[in-house]
Amino acid sequence: MADLNLQEIQDTLISVAREAGRMILSANPTDIATGTKLNSADIVTETDKAVEALVSTRLTKAYPSFSFIGEETYKPGMQVTAAPTFIVDPIDGTTNFVHGLPEACISLGLAVDRVPAVGVVYNPYQDKLYTAIRGRGAFLTLGAAWGLEAGKGRVSKLPLARNPAPLGALDTCLVASEWGNSRDGVNYEVKTRVFKKLCASKETGGAMVHSIRSLGSAALNLCAVAAGQLDVYWEGGCWAWDVCAGWAVLNEAGGIMVNGNPGDWEPKIDSRKYLAVRGAPSGQREVVEEFWKVVGDGRMEYES
Ligand code: IPD
Ligand code: CA
Repeated sequence: MADLNLQEIQDTLISVAREAGRMILSANPTDIATGTKLNSADIVTETDKAVEALVSTRLTKAYPSFSFIGEETYKPGMQVTAAPTFIVDPIDGTTNFVHGLPEACISLGLAVDRVPAVGVVYNPYQDKLYTAIRGRGAFLTLGAAWGLEAGKGRVSKLPLARNPAPLGALDTCLVASEWGNSRDGVNYEVKTRVFKKLCASKETGGAMVHSIRSLGSAALNLCAVAAGQLDVYWEGGCWAWDVCAGWAVLNEAGGIMVNGNPGDWEPKIDSRKYLAVRGAPSGQREVVEEFWKVVGDGRMEYES
């Protein structure tokens, strides 16, 4: 990693993300062709494909020796190797995009040695740009939509709180998760059981979390945990392109990522099961252990 200019790579990713953002904003989702992949909840649009084509053209030209994995051109069997690899989701939050709900982003990550090294997550609707370089901190830049001059923006270091509070038990946590598109079998059974147990009262054996949120985008969920606006994000079923960039942001904001199934403190980037916990002076391990107890023995079985 030492010989890579990560700052220059991040600058390139930011410029590509802003260009892609303009493309996303100019698309009227009700006018564009929408299709489905695995099932009716796994949506893809012409814009997803066009944005990925733009991103891949720009990045392959700028960094021809790097590998590239993008959601819309992924083929089963493609692996994240140790080589510098751009891992890209052209639109994360496609369901929100097609419904006109302004929680969608472009998610551009660079993994080196299979570890997220640079992350750029851009929500063009809200002009929110999350960025991180390994070892150099994570930042949120609010731009033109917030009354600031385009391209400059107001930069905040993440997490947003100057002194993040210690983490308490799950009954003090705001938790994010997603329904995903797997709606039967063991994975659906685990998700629905965990959702129920997270919310249920202590008297009935539940964890009584403050509530559960679903932003509809793994990358935006991770960035909200990095910002400290969510305490925990638990996910099964998403892919490396959903998490790579947000994971870089999370790490640099002091957050941790472990496996969504109990027992694995160092999940692989393509493990498809994740549990993210926000930065805090204490309590991260305890929250993970309490959450893993809620998951229990019925483990998620998404295949990498
Ligand atoms: C989806 C979102 C969602 C997650 C799904 C992903 P997409 O990505 O990140 O939050 O739960 O697993 O597939 O389809 O909007 O790119
Ligand atoms: Ca996507």
